[in-house]
Amino acid sequence: MQVVSISSLKGGVGKTSVTLGLASAALAAGIPTLVIDLDPHADASTGLGVRVDSKLTIGRMLKASRKTNLADNIVSSSWQAKAVSKRSLTRVPVHDVAVGDAYAGIYDRPDLRARDLRRLTQLLAKTSGYALVLIDCPPSLNGLTRMAWSASERILLVAEPSLFSVAGTERTQRALEMFRKEYAPELGRIDVIANRVRPDSDEHRFRLAEMRSMFGSSMLSPELPEFADWQQIQGAAYSVHQWPGKPAKKTAALFDQLLRNITDTARKPPRT
Ligand SMILES: Nc1ncnc2c1ncn2[C@@H]1O[C@H](COP(=O)(O)OP(=O)(O)OP(=O)(O)O)[C@@H](O)[C@H]1O
Ligand SMILES: [Mg+2]
Repeated sequence: MQVVSISSLKGGVGKTSVTLGLASAALAAGIPTLVIDLDPHADASTGLGVRVDSKLTIGRMLKASRKTNLADNIVSSSWQAKAVSKRSLTRVPVHDVAVGDAYAGIYDRPDLRARDLRRLTQLLAKTSGYALVLIDCPPSLNGLTRMAWSASERILLVAEPSLFSVAGTERTQRALEMFRKEYAPELGRIDVIANRVRPDSDEHRFRLAEMRSMFGSSMLSPELPEFADWQQIQGAAYSVHQWPGKPAKKTAALFDQLLRNITDTARKPPRT
C-alpha cells in the first residue's frame, strides 16, 4: 500500500485537483484506491460525489482513532458507480473515500502533540486491500497536514509557476526536512508538481526554469497545464477520465503518466 500526501502551504494551487486527477487515473487503471479527504473544506469529497449518512467522517474517525475501524466508515466514490454502469464491468474497481468535514479542523493546530500526529497512521494500520492511498491536505502546515505526512511514504507538493507559490514550496520543503528529522525518518520522496502551467506566458516559463533549478530531480513530470474544464468537471462530480472531449482526454492522459511516474519511482530508494 503506497500512501501519498498531496500538500502545499499556499491555498488554491491545485492540491485537490491533483488528488482527483490521480484518483481518476487510478480508477481507470483498476488500482484499488482510497482517497482520504483531510481538508475541513471537504472539496475532494464534493468532487468525488460522496457524503456520509450513517458513517463517520474522517474528523470523527481521527477523534476515536484507536477504537474506529476505517473500513466500516469509508464510502464508495460516485465515480466508481458511473464507471461500472458505463462499461458494464464484471469486476467492480475499489475506489473508496474517507469523507471530509469541518470537524477535522479540531486537529488543524500548530501545536499538535506527537501522539495526536499518529492518529491517521493508527487508522491506516488497520486497513488493507488498497494499493494506493491519496491524502488531500488543507492549505497549511498545521496538525492535519503533519498528521498526513506522518502516515505517508511520499509527499507531493503542488506549486503554480508564480513567485509566491514557488517561495511557499521552498519553505514547505524546508519544513518537511525538519519534520523528517524530528518525527518521520522513514519518510520517502518529496516531489514537486507544477500545476496550471501556461507555456505561452513569459512569467510562467521563467518561474518553471527557476523551479527546475531549485527542485532539480524532485520536479515530477509531466507538468500540468491550465485546463479550462476543471471547475465544471469537479462541480459535476465527474472523473476527468469520464468527461467527454479532447481536452479532458489530454488531461486524463497526463494524469495516467503522472500516476505511472509516481508508482514507478516508489520502487526506487528514497533520496537522502
Ligand atoms: N490545471 C488547472 N487548470 C485550471 N484550473 C485549475 C487547475 N488546477 C486547479 N484549478 C482550479 O483552481 C481552483 C483551485 O484548485 P484546487 O481546489 O484544486 O486547489 P487547492 O490547492 O486544493 O485549494 P485549497 O488550498 O483551497 O484546498 C479550483 O477551482 C480548480 O478547479
Ligand atoms: Mg483543496
